[in-house]
Amino acid sequence: MTIRVIETTAFDDQKPGTSGLRKKVARFALPHYLENYVQSVFTVVGDCHGKTLVLGGDGRFYNDVAIQVILKMAAAAGFARVLVGQNGILSTPAASAVIREHKADGGIILSASHNPGGPKGDFGIKYNLSNGGPANETFTDAIFQVSKKITQYAIEDCPDLNIAQIGEQTLDKTVIEVIDPVADYAALLKSLFDFESIKTLFARPDFKMRYDALNAVTGPYAKRILEGMLGAPEGTVVNATPLADFGGRHPDPNPVYAADLIRALSTPALGLSFGAASDGDGDRNMVVGRNLFISPSDSLAVIVANARLIPAYEKGLAGVARSMPTSRAVDRVAEALGISCYETPTGWKFFGNLLDAGKATICGEESSGTGGNHVREKDGLWAVLCWLSILAKTGKHAETLVREHWARFGRNVYSRHDYEGIDREAGQTLMARLREIAPTLAGKCFTLPSSHTMVIDKADDFTYHDPVDGSVSEHQGIRVFLKDGSRIVFRLSGTGTVGATLRVYLERYTDNPAHYEEPVQTTLKPLIDLADQVAHIREITGRQAPDVIS
Ligand code: G1P
Ligand code: ZN
Repeated sequence: MTIRVIETTAFDDQKPGTSGLRKKVARFALPHYLENYVQSVFTVVGDCHGKTLVLGGDGRFYNDVAIQVILKMAAAAGFARVLVGQNGILSTPAASAVIREHKADGGIILSASHNPGGPKGDFGIKYNLSNGGPANETFTDAIFQVSKKITQYAIEDCPDLNIAQIGEQTLDKTVIEVIDPVADYAALLKSLFDFESIKTLFARPDFKMRYDALNAVTGPYAKRILEGMLGAPEGTVVNATPLADFGGRHPDPNPVYAADLIRALSTPALGLSFGAASDGDGDRNMVVGRNLFISPSDSLAVIVANARLIPAYEKGLAGVARSMPTSRAVDRVAEALGISCYETPTGWKFFGNLLDAGKATICGEESSGTGGNHVREKDGLWAVLCWLSILAKTGKHAETLVREHWARFGRNVYSRHDYEGIDREAGQTLMARLREIAPTLAGKCFTLPSSHTMVIDKADDFTYHDPVDGSVSEHQGIRVFLKDGSRIVFRLSGTGTVGATLRVYLERYTDNPAHYEEPVQTTLKPLIDLADQVAHIREITGRQAPDVIS
């Protein structure tokens, strides 16, 4: 076998974002673009001899091409072994599970998560460390530095490998092991949950579930686990075949892109009592009760409040963590349970240290991410199994559990407004201005169009001090706290690929049951108006309304 060393020129835009490097497929397909990045990763990994790498992706367009390139480059870099998912498939949580289970040194996950796929869609590549979690900022910064100076990369000169059959083959001195993408992950979930109890739920005549895989990676996982191991009737999992372009859909499980599922749960004739969906790479989840979309922040709070019903957590949780913009519903539960609740910047990687140090057992983000200490990624199917376990053990329906939760803890009414693809500079101007005025906002009183007045308690730019390694992450979002306990958070997305995406997170706490059933946007209207007054969103972005409300 010959290794070819190819001369290349550096690209200046290979800076990994919230979740690895994400770009349009067309950019990744430029000559040397993917190779440069992969070589930069391997350079930062260091001496790869004797090391094991896990490789797989969500099956989106370009997955197959990239897998072959990476296999050939991994062999050229001298990895002892590469574990690759059959046909290049591994959901993100499954990749994390495989890295941990096989004690691999790291893994490459190919995905742009919930971003659309296809030739005109997005592609992404992310490196995970030996704990199964996304590389930390020191590591990703190092990749960026190397990528800016790269002059050559090494790749085996050989035909494409056959990765359709499970088994081992060698490429030069590297063993390429094609693995069943579901097996390790399914076994891990089986060790955490009481599958027998969940089976009784599926056998109940008043329980009928629909799981929408959105034509993305979780189809085969959900089929095997829900319909195979847990006895859910065939047809429970819909849109179960992963497609390279997700069937033209946006594989993001939220009320906008999974509107079908929400509608189905509001259609009595279908007899459905519980709905769930996952995103492109399987780390996100959405859960729906009858006529009730359960916000991810509420879902996290309900799971934590009932965690003792799940075998893996029956002795209690060490602590919990949520990303800063996530609603503070879980904080109230943690307080009641007498456990710590950590507040981290957006991005799952910030939970890694807390999970590794045993400070947090369950973590969550408002963006449909929930997960536990079994892997180092958020985990869509895990969250669904948490819900199924709780439904099975309580015998209650999901919407009842949520309403009982509000009755006990009050409701953190919550919504996120996204202004997608706004002008990059406009986004930066808006944030810079907020950063500048934040220290002056305390005590300011705003009169809204409704003549409602709101007083700001304090505002700041969130800085995170990691309690485990002492690292400091600044500029993680502007937080505006109101005297009445409400909160508005502003930040720019770190995963978008076009212009800038402004995210505005609105949260209002109420323990007045009259508000519980009111439409969320109605309850939040004063905050929505205030957000515009404080940040001049319409004026600076030129947008009259958000593109996505979730
Ligand atoms: C978004 C979510 C964030 C999540 C990330 C990766 O990042 O908001 O919670 O961790 O995707 O799935 P953002 O685009 O906001 O930077
Ligand atoms: Zn995802």
